Amino acid sequence: MIEEKLAEYNALIEKRFNELYPEIDAAYASVLKAARYSMLLGGKRIRPALTMEFCKLCGKKAEDALDFAVAVEMIHTYSLIHDDLPCMDNDDLRRGKPSCHKAFGENTALLAGDSLLTEAFFVAANANVPSNTALKVISFLASNAGIHGMIGGQVLDLCFEKITPDEKMLQDMYMRKTGALLIAAVSIGCIAAGKSDEKTLRSAAKYGYNLGLAFQIIDDILDVTSNEKALGKPIGSDEKNGKTTFVTLYGVDKAFAVAAKLSNMALDALDEFDGDTKTLYELTDFLLDRNH
Ligand code: IPE
Ligand code: IPE
Ligand code: MG
Ligand code: MG
Ligand code: MG
Repeated sequence: MIEEKLAEYNALIEKRFNELYPEIDAAYASVLKAARYSMLLGGKRIRPALTMEFCKLCGKKAEDALDFAVAVEMIHTYSLIHDDLPCMDNDDLRRGKPSCHKAFGENTALLAGDSLLTEAFFVAANANVPSNTALKVISFLASNAGIHGMIGGQVLDLCFEKITPDEKMLQDMYMRKTGALLIAAVSIGCIAAGKSDEKTLRSAAKYGYNLGLAFQIIDDILDVTSNEKALGKPIGSDEKNGKTTFVTLYGVDKAFAVAAKLSNMALDALDEFDGDTKTLYELTDFLLDRNH
């Protein structure tokens, strides 16, 4: 069962994060407390699961990519803390609990996000791998989380509150704000396993790109069709903020059909690998049919 597998990965991630960032007794502990709160609230842990699964797919143990997986989840969690801030989407609920700024105040939440982002690179730099492997991973993480990747996507997301983008513009924004970190997650798994040849990374990126677009379209659909309890975040956030999404462009049914097609294209990319893709197949299907 894919849920059990995700729970296994979640336990590994939380244990390692706790080892790396235990509670401390210091004058600045409040920010660590807020960062730990957001990291340990749960979440599906899709990105670290992908990093570890792609490491396995490329012939090594999932645990060999554990520190990189933790780093990816730290960057993802920082992005959620900042995404929820009043100056961004202004959402009060995250992972079923008050958003970081609601629980700790805006200034602490801002700094908790900053610290998770910064420390993620410390974790990656100190992973127990050859230094050229760590360097490649850090480069991938930085470029995909940065201005041409996730940050660029968040910038476009805000611009598109003022203008109505067409499908091509929306797709480009999704590729950056959501796809880029998923592409990083899978690529890093391959690199951790010592496979960073062009063909492998191209196939991994094809999977991450298609999955990323499908994932964000389903996120848009759930913002309209789910409920707060199942989703763990507010319903109707996109409408409140005047966002154009695949749902506003095409309606729920057609948006889902587009996501299903992209999800199939992600599965096609998996066929380009020689290893066992069963769990990744299940994960891809699970993400298309998820309710949270
Ligand atoms: C939410 O990501 C933000 C998007 C990119 C849509 P997830 O749906 O993976 O959030 P968690 O980690 O499970 O809370
Ligand atoms: C967020 O997209 C993407 C990020 C980079 C955080 P959304 O704003 O739709 O994510 P949710 O719905 O708040 O999780
Ligand atoms: Mg947002
Ligand atoms: Mg949001
Ligand atoms: Mg959303």
